[in-house]
Amino acid sequence: MSHQDDLIASDIIAYLQAQENKSFLRFITCGSVDDGKSTLIGRLLYDSKLIYEDQLSAIEKDSKRVGTQGDKIDLALLVDGLAAEREQGITIDVAHRFFSTDKRKFIVADTPGHEQYTRNMATGASSADLAIILIDARHGVLTQTRRHSFITSLLGIRHIVVAVNKMDLVDFSEDRFEEIKRDYNSFTADFNFETVEFIPMSALNGDNVLSRSARSPWFKGKPLLPYLEDIDVAKAPEKTSFRLPVQWVNRPNQDFRGFSGTIASGTIRPGDEIIVIPSGRRSFVDRIVTHGADLSEANEGQSVTLTLTDEIDVSRGDILSTTDNPASQTDQFAAHILWMSDEPLLPGRQYLVKTNNTTTRGVVTDLKYKINVNSFSHEAGKTLELNEVGVCNLSLGKPIAFDPYKDNHHTGSFILIDRQTNATIAMGMIDFSLRRADNVVWQALDVNRAARAGAKHQKPAMLWFTGLSGSGKSTIANLVEKRLFDMGRHTYILDGDNVRHGLNKDLGFTDADRVENIRRVAETAKLMVDAGLLVMVSFISPFRNERQMARALMEDGEFIEIYVDTPLEVAEKRDVKGLYKKARAGLLQNFTGIDSAYEPPQNPELVVNTTQLSAEQSTEKIIAYLQENGYLKG
Ligand code: ADX
Repeated sequence: MSHQDDLIASDIIAYLQAQENKSFLRFITCGSVDDGKSTLIGRLLYDSKLIYEDQLSAIEKDSKRVGTQGDKIDLALLVDGLAAEREQGITIDVAHRFFSTDKRKFIVADTPGHEQYTRNMATGASSADLAIILIDARHGVLTQTRRHSFITSLLGIRHIVVAVNKMDLVDFSEDRFEEIKRDYNSFTADFNFETVEFIPMSALNGDNVLSRSARSPWFKGKPLLPYLEDIDVAKAPEKTSFRLPVQWVNRPNQDFRGFSGTIASGTIRPGDEIIVIPSGRRSFVDRIVTHGADLSEANEGQSVTLTLTDEIDVSRGDILSTTDNPASQTDQFAAHILWMSDEPLLPGRQYLVKTNNTTTRGVVTDLKYKINVNSFSHEAGKTLELNEVGVCNLSLGKPIAFDPYKDNHHTGSFILIDRQTNATIAMGMIDFSLRRADNVVWQALDVNRAARAGAKHQKPAMLWFTGLSGSGKSTIANLVEKRLFDMGRHTYILDGDNVRHGLNKDLGFTDADRVENIRRVAETAKLMVDAGLLVMVSFISPFRNERQMARALMEDGEFIEIYVDTPLEVAEKRDVKGLYKKARAGLLQNFTGIDSAYEPPQNPELVVNTTQLSAEQSTEKIIAYLQENGYLKG
């Protein structure tokens, strides 16, 4: 029976109090599939007597059936909870385990070693105080070790234990241990780890896990568990400034207005002055309301509702912050991002950027460089693939409250979400706000859009023609412009082929280049609409996402999406420019409809089907739409 069990039996109150006052250590374990991670965690749970009897008998049974340890208990089975993993013998998801000793409480996230699961590792690591990096003593430092250590450092974990495991298989050789230590230290010098501890171990046999092993008398450090119990992971004061990201404005009636959320860092008391980011307004905390009585103090991790002494505007997503070291606000920043999707990053494409409690539109405006996670070198690149890490600039639809990730993991991190699939595609860590954003303001102009449009007697708009190459976009856009011109209207055409000779000369036909092509032309067309024109945009614009982006740039009614609907067979048969033939012959890559996708519009304002209507009839249909919807006044 452990000491804890004694206390439960004799004095349950004392036991619960002791539990309350114990500090928490959150750690992750990383290593390659065979390094023995699950066995190590199993050993910690087993030896700290936290396995229940029924679990134990199930494991004993499984050990005989699928275990790898003969008649001995296979401790890995305790951790590899999922049936699929048991059968395959690999760990495939983040598994959180809770255990405690007399001195401390622990939460451990067991993270997979397979390369494609870097995502899981990152998920487990962002809230961890410490990482245990497992190394098989026979194999030493592997690519995986470098990769995991790099990501651990990227995620701001400051304490590392390098568990040099399977020492029994190298006869507990001190020389081998020292060699691995040297190898590891040689590549982590710039990783900003505060402590790195090396422990020679055999997780399977329990050497240097709970107590010192007689088989490594040369090792003078602490065994793993005592080390984990004693290590001080307290954060520096600037990293504990008060931050409450507001999740909910709680207003049940006229007399009560509270701001609810989980405290991301620091401590708050009634009477403390706070500042609201991004608005910059200030007030004082009146009450700290919880389910029970009001609190005289609240700390990191607690869910609270604060009321303030003044009626000031606070919205969901704002951060309530201390005034002496306040959070910042920005709509453009530099960040490290870890790409977690099979679909590559497309700079210029709009994604959703989700921080604490806010979600806003955002684009990666510039991928500055990629970091090779094996050699740590910086490499040029136009996109990020699955598991790649890059440093980039982002631009958001509206300012957010934030801290640099190095100061606060909660308020400095974000995820990117694909707008079509809603999948999480990247996680990011904010480095710093771009100062240029602060220095570029909107210039208020006296002659405005309404004045320009009024002088022209028309309602300016963007007529966005989309469809396959050879569908007839340019022919119809040209006829529409002629008709409008004859009616005395002010117009302009932006045509894919022509714009690609000038403004977009530097762009090709990869997905990334097409996204940028459309972004530029949408911004240009927007300026022209601002100038009061009816602008015809004739681009294949194959992706829904970018057409949506163009639409979002405009006010309601200013964006008219016209789908020039021509089936591929028909466009291919026409083949005015001979490009389909070339593409079929393999002489032209990434050709829309052949080896590059076209995503037809789902709710366009207009469809012109060129197999049913002549170009002239299509034109009349469009002119009629403009007339009926008030674009052509007077
Ligand atoms: S978009 O996809 O980026 O919107 P855009 O409309 O600018 O394309 O340019 C399309 C024109 O470029 C086509 O009409 C065709 O003449 C030419 N072109 C050359 N290569 C390709 C290609 N691989 N795919 C599509 N169009 C191409």
